[in-house]
Amino acid sequence: MVLSLGHDEILVWFFRPDIVEDRHLAAFGQVLDDAERARAGRFHFPEDSRSYCCAHALGRCVLQAATGVPARDIRFRDNAHGKPELDGEPGVSGLRFNLSHTRGLVCCGITRNRDLGVDVECVSRDVDVDDLARRVFAPEEVASLQGLAEEARCEAFYSIWVLKEAYTKAVGRGLSIPLDGFSIRLDPPCIEIGALLRGDPDAGSTDEWDVRLMHPMPGYVLAAAVRAAPGDGMLYRFCEMTPDALASLCGDPDGEEGGLPILDGGQDILPNMHGG
Ligand SMILES: CC(C)(COP(=O)(O)OP(=O)(O)OC[C@H]1O[C@@H](n2cnc3c(N)ncnc32)[C@H](O)[C@@H]1OP(=O)(O)O)[C@@H](O)C(=O)NCCC(=O)NCCS
Repeated sequence: MVLSLGHDEILVWFFRPDIVEDRHLAAFGQVLDDAERARAGRFHFPEDSRSYCCAHALGRCVLQAATGVPARDIRFRDNAHGKPELDGEPGVSGLRFNLSHTRGLVCCGITRNRDLGVDVECVSRDVDVDDLARRVFAPEEVASLQGLAEEARCEAFYSIWVLKEAYTKAVGRGLSIPLDGFSIRLDPPCIEIGALLRGDPDAGSTDEWDVRLMHPMPGYVLAAAVRAAPGDGMLYRFCEMTPDALASLCGDPDGEEGGLPILDGGQDILPNMHGG
């Protein structure tokens, strides 16, 4: 069964790589291609390799469900800035996706005919967020952190960070977008495009972007950015994928039955966390 995805829907699955067992990883490895397996082998830390494998297996299985193309046969092509897109299989027209991985959490989002970016981060207390914000955030973002108590400032810093990353990933230009060319406001989350980027068709204008922020589990933030007017009424659905479910989608006979969790009657679907 191919997953149906409306033009105004964004589906995001998140996954915890720290709870996978070796048998799951073996199943995930079955759907990766040679280049992905080689890259997984080059990480210095096993946790990073595990997150990478989980993210890529998750992405392939989500795309398998959305296209009907077997996960291991899905092909990608990168844009000039390295953003992967589906490489023209039949029936995939307009399907867009984006992956993000960090230690402890990975995610994959999909949508149709809209630019999409996702980002996950662990809210680390070991980072000097004031210094980093001064170096990479827009002045109004730095100002918005001032006056917050330490814990709230740290949380707000990472919320802004993932929303900025999700936007640059949706645009598809990564670091070539000036990070002070746009700013994030948190309450409610939104993006404001500044003078530096005005007139840049990729960057779009303030009313072309819709963003969401969620906390999939304690200590982590997840952001999604999509090219859609905030009034378009986009429906965001966030859902956790378990290791057994993902292994089953990868063809592991011991995995949990039932396919993509979001297809199972919707009980796992979290509504848009911000009600918009
Ligand atoms: C390429 C880039 C977008 C990846 O971001 P990251 O946080 O390091 O990594 P993530 O795990 O979130 O995303 C990685 C995935 O994004 C996808 N990706 C790669 N290039 C991309 C691009 N230009 N646009 C969108 N997605 C991209 C790939 O699927 C990649 O997976 P892979 O590395 O396993 O192949 C990043 O290098 C970048 O330019 N980030 C934005 C600028 C920034 O540093 N912002 C700081 C916050 S204020």
